[in-house]
Amino acid sequence: MDENLPARDDLYANPGLPEHHWRPTDVDPKAERRAERQVATLFVLSAICTVLFVVAYFSVGKDDTVIGLGAQNVSLGLALSGALLFIGIGIIQWARKLMGDHEIVEYRHPASSSEEDRAATVEALQLGLEESGIGRRPLVRNSLLGAVGLVGVTAIVPLWDLGPTNAKVTKEQPYPGAGLEHTVWDQGMRVVRDVVGTPIKPSDLQIGDLVNAEPEALFNGGEDGEPLEGVALQVGKSKGAVVVVRMEPEQITPGKGRENWSVDGIVCYSKICTHVGCPISLYERTTHHLLCPCHQSTFDLADSARVVFGPAARPLPQLPLAVDDEGYLVAQSDFTEPVGPSYWERG
Ligand code: FES
Repeated sequence: MDENLPARDDLYANPGLPEHHWRPTDVDPKAERRAERQVATLFVLSAICTVLFVVAYFSVGKDDTVIGLGAQNVSLGLALSGALLFIGIGIIQWARKLMGDHEIVEYRHPASSSEEDRAATVEALQLGLEESGIGRRPLVRNSLLGAVGLVGVTAIVPLWDLGPTNAKVTKEQPYPGAGLEHTVWDQGMRVVRDVVGTPIKPSDLQIGDLVNAEPEALFNGGEDGEPLEGVALQVGKSKGAVVVVRMEPEQITPGKGRENWSVDGIVCYSKICTHVGCPISLYERTTHHLLCPCHQSTFDLADSARVVFGPAARPLPQLPLAVDDEGYLVAQSDFTEPVGPSYWERG
């Protein structure tokens, strides 16, 4: 070491702590009470936003729009943001204006804490609790508890959308109450090509063909002739999508009670994977296997869509087919079991 150089302590003198300035709330009881009311007001605003969330959920239509966006989603998002934001701002203001304002110097020490340090930490925590004033300020404490308790409601209320599981899907009541056990398929409803909506005759399909199809109600609304729109269309489309496949009639092994569910070797199954609901249409015409791209569940369409590989636990639901007076493919009924993945009530 060069003895001509100045000592390090001379080069980097400890500047010490700047002078402490007390906050107005530390020295002025009026300012302290004003800050307390401000914090409580923020928590109350949060509670009001939570109430608005619930009101918006039940009063804003799912099909309404505002500046091109779903009005219900926008109002729910704004209300939930407000509820969380006001709690956050309230806590920050509480800490800035009302909690203890002491300068603390912490010297470096070994990584593991000694018994004394731990005891000191517990003591400091207790002191912090005391200084936060949570015991002395029932207005702040109670409004915070109320706001935090209420904000949990935002996670519970949307469960309403699950609705009764066995309700019939209609245009008037597509959701909630659309249920999990039914789709828009019904007796005599035509099977039409997806996107274009043209009905299908058995003679339109060659052996080995697979067609993605939908219920005709998505295009003409079924009995009342009005096309489905908005939520009704989304629900009908997502639950009613099917694949129609033609194979040699003798290759089909019909399940019990399903002997008349195919037409000239044409079978129809839900397109929604029974694992976690991906749409399926990867078809191997020689084996009649339908492969789900998500986790490789494989279904044998010649054998009631039995699962031959992968994590799916159930066959794809089959739609019973027939032809109408004009020779077009129609459903004999809705699916006889729920489509899509498992849920708590599905047997
Ligand atoms: S969603 Fe089809 S295998 Fe997982």
